[in-house]
Amino acid sequence: MKGLTPFLSLALLTGLLTMNACSSKKETTEQKASIEKTAYGQLAGGQTADLYTLRNESGMTAQITNYGGIIVGLTAPDKDGKFEDVTLGQDSLSAYVKNNPYFGALIGRYGNRIAKGKFTLDGKTYNLVTNNMGNHLHGGTVGFDKVLWTATPIEGDEPALKLTYTSKDGEEGYPGNLNVTVTYTLQKDNALKIDYEATTDKPTVVNLTNHTYFNLTGGAKRDVLDHVVTLNADRFIPVDKTLIPTGKLQPVANTPFDFTQPTVIGKRINDSTDTQIKYGGGYDHGWVLNGSGDSLKLAATVYEPTSGRVMEVRTTEPAIQFYTGNFLDGSVTGREGFPYKKRYALCLETEHYPDSPNQSSFPTTTLRPGETYKTTTIYQFSTRKE
Ligand code: BGC
Repeated sequence: MKGLTPFLSLALLTGLLTMNACSSKKETTEQKASIEKTAYGQLAGGQTADLYTLRNESGMTAQITNYGGIIVGLTAPDKDGKFEDVTLGQDSLSAYVKNNPYFGALIGRYGNRIAKGKFTLDGKTYNLVTNNMGNHLHGGTVGFDKVLWTATPIEGDEPALKLTYTSKDGEEGYPGNLNVTVTYTLQKDNALKIDYEATTDKPTVVNLTNHTYFNLTGGAKRDVLDHVVTLNADRFIPVDKTLIPTGKLQPVANTPFDFTQPTVIGKRINDSTDTQIKYGGGYDHGWVLNGSGDSLKLAATVYEPTSGRVMEVRTTEPAIQFYTGNFLDGSVTGREGFPYKKRYALCLETEHYPDSPNQSSFPTTTLRPGETYKTTTIYQFSTRKE
């Protein structure tokens, strides 16, 4: 410091200290990717459910429990880099066990509805548990969202959680022992990838999905009516008043179901002149994705203008169920202690068409011994400034 005035020396020292603080700050935001396990709670049968926290280098986290394979929390940055939770969730295992409208959950053996809980396969009729207006919904009363999965954490720059479950022959009425593997991977590019796999020892039907409720404001600050949605689909799947497909696909053009261009959800959701909107109480329908085959394709884009958050959904599945939380009524209290009300979230459930086992014109959901059911869906987060 010789030759420098005391004032300059102090300024230089402060500068050096600030530089140090900045570099150590950088180190803390750009942490190593990791996966950590903690006990989450005990189930009535005495088994312990665990909670796994996956973190990528940029600081995004996914918290997943092996009870129901539920995504308990998922953070994504807003346009200023602030990470906040973009999903609805509850604050304890017991809350999820008591009453969970499928927040974050894995859905199986069959996502969405099977009419009257009945289907015929190879000449034999099967009767499933009915749990929704006389129909079978989301795998029945004890679907894959309410069972304990076996978890294997996989470390790496893209940490992953592998969940396995064997659904017994006859469970909820389905034929065949079904071995299911679902792997959640938190990618470097702020995407959560879900890979689904299943094999069976008897012919059966399978349609797996995830039922996360998203609200991109972060912390579900308000309803999702101002979220802007684009769906890569020229047709949707009309339903009857019990939400079973009529069997005929309908072009979205000139209907409130046209999301081929970015459209604010609230714009047409209350169009009471539209019978389909009336039946769903808003949007609660499957859209048939454009593009054939089972390659990964962009299915949906959601943009929330105040946070700048964007979510893109890519899938190998042929359809996407877009559900706007019409049945949320404030009776379930979320993590922050306030009630989740009607339309406080949206679900984008990638899947085959509802009721396919009874609709011969729909792509098949039959799985036979020797075949492997394999699908992938990716939810990717980014931001946009406008
Ligand atoms: C269905 C809705 C149902 C919701 C919660 C969605 O996948 O399409 O009709 O109310 O799940 O169960």
